Amino acid sequence: MKNSLIGEDTLGLFISFEGGEGSGKSSQCTVLYDRLIEKGYRVTRIQEPGSTELGNYLRSYLKATKNPVTPEAEVLLFAAARTELVRRVILPELVQGRIVIADRYADSTTAYQGYGRRVSLSSIKHANDLATNGHWPDLTFLLDVPIEIGLNRARVQTSLDDERDFARRNTDGSKRADESEEQRFEGAGKTFHKRVREGYLKLAAREPDRWIVLDATAKESVLSQQIWDYVSQKLNEKLLSEGDTARLPGF
Ligand code: TYD
Repeated sequence: MKNSLIGEDTLGLFISFEGGEGSGKSSQCTVLYDRLIEKGYRVTRIQEPGSTELGNYLRSYLKATKNPVTPEAEVLLFAAARTELVRRVILPELVQGRIVIADRYADSTTAYQGYGRRVSLSSIKHANDLATNGHWPDLTFLLDVPIEIGLNRARVQTSLDDERDFARRNTDGSKRADESEEQRFEGAGKTFHKRVREGYLKLAAREPDRWIVLDATAKESVLSQQIWDYVSQKLNEKLLSEGDTARLPGF
């Protein structure tokens, strides 16, 4: 498995955030991004699905469609968008020595479509291998939260923004008009989210060098400090071994 280090003399660092609904990863991406920028690092933030024309199209499509696609089609759609993202954004940015922060990456497909929607893990591995070309993050933060707390947070959040249908459709992949949203969230959705959470924990246990599991029920400021400690440690390790090309001159 390749990590993000592309050239001998670059300091590209690839960091991803993963977690279930309401885990707070998007806020933590923002805090980390701002802090790195403030320290003078060159940073690119991306989100999945999104961050390319195809990714943005997929996000809008999944949000808008009244006819959710099959789990297998989801795998392929996410993989197609990810292929674009890896080749057009992630790799070029890393080659220039930038730090890339990803709000979800290929592990989301394993957790959601694999463990959550039960598509075979070997098919997902094939799709992810093609999409990532073997490029995986140097560091992946799993913001782990008990599903009741996460879903509660997500419910508050989704009532505040327009991602509602998209996030909820992902509770079990279907959307029946005769079923109350509340019921879906509390019922079938719960077992789906439980599988997603357990899937993430299995992935993290399998690759302890890459994954950092954090208790996402902690206060936001506590979490962001923990994340910062891991990231700065990783940056120091890279600095010691490679040289300081991710920083702007003068820092
Ligand atoms: P997102 O906006 O990232 O969710 P959140 O608001 O929780 O941060 O929404 C993306 C949704 O897409 C989320 O429900 C997870 C789902 N998803 C998959 O099911 N598979 C994937 O491979 C990816 C990237 C996302």
